[in-house]
Amino acid sequence: MRHPTFATLPPLIGHRGAAACAPENTLAGFRRARALNCRWVEFDVRLTSDRQPILLHDDRLQRTTDGRGKASALSLASIRRHSAGAWFDPSYKEERVPTLEEALRLLAELRLGANIELKAVRGREAETGAVVAERLVQLCPSNLPELLISSFRPVALAAARARAPDIARGILFRAVPTNWRAIAEEAGCATIHVDHQRLYAALADRIRAAGYPLLAYTVNDRERARTLFAWGVSSVFSDDPRRLEGATAPDRLLLPGLAS
Ligand code: G3P
Ligand code: MG
Repeated sequence: MRHPTFATLPPLIGHRGAAACAPENTLAGFRRARALNCRWVEFDVRLTSDRQPILLHDDRLQRTTDGRGKASALSLASIRRHSAGAWFDPSYKEERVPTLEEALRLLAELRLGANIELKAVRGREAETGAVVAERLVQLCPSNLPELLISSFRPVALAAARARAPDIARGILFRAVPTNWRAIAEEAGCATIHVDHQRLYAALADRIRAAGYPLLAYTVNDRERARTLFAWGVSSVFSDDPRRLEGATAPDRLLLPGLAS
């Protein structure tokens, strides 16, 4: 087993691969992100009915595949019958919903770092965090890319921490609550991830002053990215890396306590 380590965050992280440029959360999306010079990608992971971690944003299949129904109620085999790319463009019709294992293998091949976001239906948050973390520990290729687990659900992060304490965690917020720091500390988080539309300079200052790298989603506008970087944001998640070309990037930032 090889524990992941990392020392830096890139200024730009491809969101769901590169969601504006290729079907989201697919292997083709990772290749596209790499071709667009992303060093990291973000993607969403959830469990099938047979507890297999797959890459899928929504609870249901219908928006991003040609199937229907809740992923948590369907087996991996039944989900894999569907195209995960035809909805985006016919040229992607052979794409399938990737397994976590397939994703890790390709990330290693492409030398892409990853932010793995834990998604879970209500009641399966801890199970999802535990299963995904166990798989990450088991499956890590020897040329493991940098990894950061994140979630809106602290209980999922706590379960991941119990199974894979050495993989860094980040807490996701939409509106940042006043007790954000207590939540981050409770789950042992290294990074804070926020909706850029709810971020403002004073809040960014407070988070940065507390020593946390701050990541902002989902930013598809160059001027907005510039503003966020000027506020001290470490990384922005973008569906379309092409649109952010030329935004001033911060120096590479050390993640406190995680470099090795
Ligand atoms: O991880 C950042 C972002 O992906 C969180 O929101 O809904 O796009 O998964 P969502
Ligand atoms: Mg996500």
